[in-house]
Amino acid sequence: MDKVEAEDRITISVRVNGEPKSASTTTRQSLVDFLRHGLGLTGSHVGCEHGVCGACNVIVDDSVVRGCLMLAIQADGARITTIDAANPGPEVAALQKAFFERAALQCGFCTPGMIMQASELLQRNESPTREEIREVLSGNYCRCTGYHAIIDAVQAASKALIATKR
Ligand code: FES
Ligand code: FES
Repeated sequence: MDKVEAEDRITISVRVNGEPKSASTTTRQSLVDFLRHGLGLTGSHVGCEHGVCGACNVIVDDSVVRGCLMLAIQADGARITTIDAANPGPEVAALQKAFFERAALQCGFCTPGMIMQASELLQRNESPTREEIREVLSGNYCRCTGYHAIIDAVQAASKALIATKR
């Protein structure tokens, strides 16, 4: 590490998937790169790196965030949820099961971002329409599936979650 790079580094603390973590970053490092390379949480993917594809979506303090557009230092002190969580919460768990059962993924590159985005939807709207799901996932690109199975999976997860409440 050269002198300039060493001076540029700063340690931040976050709570990721329920666990407190501290690690060094630079003033220029994106949140998704910090998660992947600083903390070893490689579930969030890096696609376009400029906010278009949604592969890097994570949840920061209850809001879905593009991990490639947020700087790691901006997340200092934040609560972050990623697809890597061992106990991801009922929405993520139901979505993971439904995506598997409905064959809503092929290569899987887009899937972490899709699931984080859809989990936020299901938290605020337990029974979204297909149109509402399409609208929310319109910022998540999938090159493989054609999207129909993804919409089916989100609806299936919604129904499963509602069934658990009865
Ligand atoms: S990698 Fe962040 S939106 Fe594509
Ligand atoms: S499953 Fe391959 S990009 Fe979506």
